Amino acid sequence: MVVRPNVKELPGKKAKEIIEKNFEALAVTTQDPETLPIVIDHGDGILVYDVDGNVFYDFGSGVGVLNVGHAHPRVVEAVKRQAEKFTHFALNDFFYENAVILANKLAELAPGDFPKKVVYQNSGAEANEAMMKLVKYGTGRKRFIAFYHAFHGRTQAVLSLTASKWVQQDRFFPTMPGVEHIPYPNPYRNPWHIDGYAEPDELINRVIEFIEEYVFRHVPPEEVGAIVFEPIQGEGGYVVPPKGFFRELKKLADSYGILLADDEVQMGVGRTGKFWAIEHFDVAPDTIQFGKAIGGGIPLAGVVHRADIAFDKPGRHASTFGGNPVAIAAGLEVVEIVKELLPHVQEVGDYLHARLKELEEKYEVIGDARGLGLAQAVEIVKSKDTKEKNPKLRDAIVKEAVKRGLILLGCGDNSIRFIPPLTIKKEEIDVAMEIFEESLRAALG
Ligand SMILES: Cc1ncc(COP(=O)(O)O)c(C=O)c1O
Repeated sequence: MVVRPNVKELPGKKAKEIIEKNFEALAVTTQDPETLPIVIDHGDGILVYDVDGNVFYDFGSGVGVLNVGHAHPRVVEAVKRQAEKFTHFALNDFFYENAVILANKLAELAPGDFPKKVVYQNSGAEANEAMMKLVKYGTGRKRFIAFYHAFHGRTQAVLSLTASKWVQQDRFFPTMPGVEHIPYPNPYRNPWHIDGYAEPDELINRVIEFIEEYVFRHVPPEEVGAIVFEPIQGEGGYVVPPKGFFRELKKLADSYGILLADDEVQMGVGRTGKFWAIEHFDVAPDTIQFGKAIGGGIPLAGVVHRADIAFDKPGRHASTFGGNPVAIAAGLEVVEIVKELLPHVQEVGDYLHARLKELEEKYEVIGDARGLGLAQAVEIVKSKDTKEKNPKLRDAIVKEAVKRGLILLGCGDNSIRFIPPLTIKKEEIDVAMEIFEESLRAALG
């Protein structure tokens, strides 16, 4: 028997009060109390208990952070143990052993038979900032290529890579110059209207051709330091590119001495059923940016990168909190827990995918169900024929689901992601699918 979600009133009295005070005290972020009025009291695995006693299934994992679930006992224990010893010692000036151990583990897990090093940071955006500095420093090249619909963070330089929504750019221009965007090989929705599921090679060729014929017409390739990509686009809609894409991209990059910078902030750390998502694609990138899930909820991020682009002089780059010992202690546990969970993620991920595919068959408004492992999404459309996006219906489904105790998050313009903690059981997926279908019907009216 699994615990089921249970919602009496949402938001309840206490939640309402806290949300009101939140908006008086805090700057606007992306909080949306109309859709997600959830004020947590505590969490346990996939469960979230709010301040009024409502119980939810967390299919958002704190936006891709809680891969090992809420309050995993091994992570909690590691954090306590470390906090009793020391909580900070500034890794930029001093030394502690667990930072070295985690760096070696992450480097060993990264594909590629070449020496690697690690830079620790605190957030995904910072990891991408560090990657850009490494690439510039290590290659002497100053330009970058990134993809439309990409999300790499919101800090000023990284914003030049992000091309997810205009609201992220509005009034923040100028960002860093020298970034060119190209279409991501989205099999369902691409500028060439190719069915990338039926004709993956055609889609791959068009993107490669776009770089050669359009970008390199005005951008000298020998000035491009790296092509920055998400192995599956996250905020852009959980878009899975054709299997052969990154191999072709690597061939092109190698022929011009361009590096591949792999942003695994959302897709890494077991989310897709492999430790790094790029392992599905048989390619060794030159940098891997990590963040979100690695610290088990404690801020930790960074870059695993080829050693020959490393910062080699003091002061080139450092961060007071980067590699905080409490976060590292959590990270060491997370790595081991996730490694143990990988076969489970593949199994339940396939199961979740098959359940969503059934719903795609059944409902005209589900245009595409896609994903790898426990990184799954559905795209909500007006009809399968026209593929016209239906963000209004998407938002209504999310709202209905939350009312029934299933926390879902949107992504892209009109998609819903399903990213529960990797510990989720099949029976819990069944409950979630039951609620999701009920919510879909309710939203359809
Ligand atoms: C792929 C990717 N990169 C970078 C970031 C930015 O991470 P952070 O919010 O920790 O700065 C995100 C956040 O959603 C992300 O999904």
